Amino acid sequence: MTTMTVPRLPVLGWRSLRLRRQRVYAGCVLARGQALFVSSGRAAILHALRLLEVGTGDRVLLPTYHCPTMVAPIVRLGAQPVFYPIDRCAAPDLNWLAASDLGGVKAMIAAHFFGIPQPLGEVQAFCRERGIALIEDCAHAFFGQSAETPVGATGDFAVASLPKFFPTTEGGCLVVPAPLQRRLSLSKPSGLTELRALLDVLELGVQHGRFGVLGIALKALAAIKSQLRRPQQNPALLLDGGDPAAWLDEAALGYTALRVSRLLVAYTDTDRLIARRRANYQRWRAALQSLEGAQPLFPELPDGAVPYVFPLHVQRPEPAYQYLRAQGVPVFRWDVHWPGVPRLPGDHGKEWLTTVFQLGCHQELSERDVLYLANIVRQAVSNTV
Ligand SMILES: Cc1ncc(COP(=O)(O)O)c(C=O)c1O
Repeated sequence: MTTMTVPRLPVLGWRSLRLRRQRVYAGCVLARGQALFVSSGRAAILHALRLLEVGTGDRVLLPTYHCPTMVAPIVRLGAQPVFYPIDRCAAPDLNWLAASDLGGVKAMIAAHFFGIPQPLGEVQAFCRERGIALIEDCAHAFFGQSAETPVGATGDFAVASLPKFFPTTEGGCLVVPAPLQRRLSLSKPSGLTELRALLDVLELGVQHGRFGVLGIALKALAAIKSQLRRPQQNPALLLDGGDPAAWLDEAALGYTALRVSRLLVAYTDTDRLIARRRANYQRWRAALQSLEGAQPLFPELPDGAVPYVFPLHVQRPEPAYQYLRAQGVPVFRWDVHWPGVPRLPGDHGKEWLTTVFQLGCHQELSERDVLYLANIVRQAVSNTV
């Protein structure tokens, strides 16, 4: 029997780059041409809220299914997060919202979870009628097109996260209306920070054997990098889901994205990225569709989708999830979430926080990798049923 190590992501390799700079094209958040590169997706949310003058006493709507990084910017500004339910397609429940007290609500965050584009036209109309600004969260959907529009084209603001699609460790995008753009002043990260980030990216590639003999020289550089490492966040803080400081790197919030991240967006071969992510999604689906105790959340991959992950709904997630994490399988779920997420009628989001396994579709995973990983997932889930 051949042995394999569990593949990790994301990595940079020669083949994933285009030699010539390209325009990152329609169907992605940059299509509106008003995107600013910022330090992370959460920084983009914070900037959007600041431009909307959200502050103490204001309320911001967001889904019960969430990553704490979506909530931290709201709480950081002294505003109150108000969780709304989502349906089985991960769309906001507008009936629930229409029947709710929306006094003091200044903004609503709606996300294209997993990279499945949501048609947001109705949500936008709902918000417009009530004077609520819509922040379209494209962290999981840097590319894509719903039945209506390209992702990032509907909201008053759109935000995205670079490391989820590009082989970099930091960076985000904020799509802002042109007149507001001038109100945002961002500073450049220091040269040392830029160097550290470049070495981080190269180190990841080297760890995965992507640079051939050049990797030996790069390994030496990686050793120097350990001297430049930024202090780690306090791990005790990371356990506290309700403290914005645990999720926001204050020093980086006001920075533009690092140069290496911006270059990788410009030079990553996006045709290849899109094709390989879609192929990996289909492979996960084929390998897991008849698994007892678990169902793909979206068995059909829509034509316009460029998936971030393959979401698998697992009826009895324990101990399968812990087992998969211990094996190093690239799987995530949002079991660390914001305190006080309510149980709402008809909602799927709160339950998904623990039952939906987000399985990586990264472009650097090969067919063999996905089949190998799917086999581990099958075993883990079958042993729990
Ligand atoms: C839906 C969603 N929005 C926003 C973010 C924040 O992105 P970043 O990690 O780049 O700050 C995340 C991060 O996981 C996310 O999943």
